Amino acid sequence: MKNTPKSGTLSYQSEYDMTHLTVRRLLIDLKQPFERRWNGGDAFRSAFLNAMSMSFPVGEQFFMDSIRKGVSALPLAERERFAEELQGFVGQEATHRHLHALYNAQLASQGFVNTQEKRSLKRLERLERMKLDPRHAVAITAATEHFTAIFAHWMLAQTFVLEGAEPRMKTLWLWHCAEETEHRNTAFDVYKAMGGNEKWRLFWFRYVTGQFMLDILRQTLRNLWDDKALLQWRTWASAIQLLLGRQGLVRRCFKPWRAYFSPAFHPSKQDASLSLQWLQENAAQFRVMERSAA
Ligand SMILES: [Fe+2]
Ligand SMILES: [Fe+2]
Repeated sequence: MKNTPKSGTLSYQSEYDMTHLTVRRLLIDLKQPFERRWNGGDAFRSAFLNAMSMSFPVGEQFFMDSIRKGVSALPLAERERFAEELQGFVGQEATHRHLHALYNAQLASQGFVNTQEKRSLKRLERLERMKLDPRHAVAITAATEHFTAIFAHWMLAQTFVLEGAEPRMKTLWLWHCAEETEHRNTAFDVYKAMGGNEKWRLFWFRYVTGQFMLDILRQTLRNLWDDKALLQWRTWASAIQLLLGRQGLVRRCFKPWRAYFSPAFHPSKQDASLSLQWLQENAAQFRVMERSAA
């Protein structure tokens, strides 16, 4: 199996409009502590979202690096086409990364141990040593961004996920969800513009699906262990509701997950109305950042 996706349509033009990506500074203070079970006192809902948060700083740095490299590998006209979007994408992910690092520092001070970060860093080192064509990293990013986008839509739609959550944490999560929805096209469009093919797009999506679920599962179990909640029936009742219930993750996200396998897939086909609504209704929670020169 060759390590290079076949070069195809470098002059690819997305049939969808470029998104103008706004960078926002969230007006919450995450340097102040929060409760261990900040999500409505529910051990599983807290542990699960904490596991997601623990994966973000390394993951989001990888997304920024891969998209920057991907865009810089494009011909000049294409680089110019993506310049503004790239700046917005990096600005949003860098802000997420910063706030989740503060969030994770609070978790560390509460005694939670982030085991997946070390595993992710090792995996990325191995990937780096393979010296793959930059399209592979962009395909991994596009696949993960689809995951974050469908997860974000689910969280924005299903209010029980954050029911009773600490207001700062609720704001952080829903702001992150809104921005993940906003920039859901970027990695996919860069991959297409680089001539990335379908075979590798789907290969990496299958890989990311397995790895992502395994990472989150392992870290959630570790978080529950650290919270002394692993063996309580309440924990698993909540897990069943969150993951397998009628409004749960599996039932609500399976269809949009499967949509990625269609050759006609484009992330912009996913409904963004809840993201727009949240940003409009919560404008007092953030400040829009001025754009610096590219
Ligand atoms: Fe993000
Ligand atoms: Fe993202």
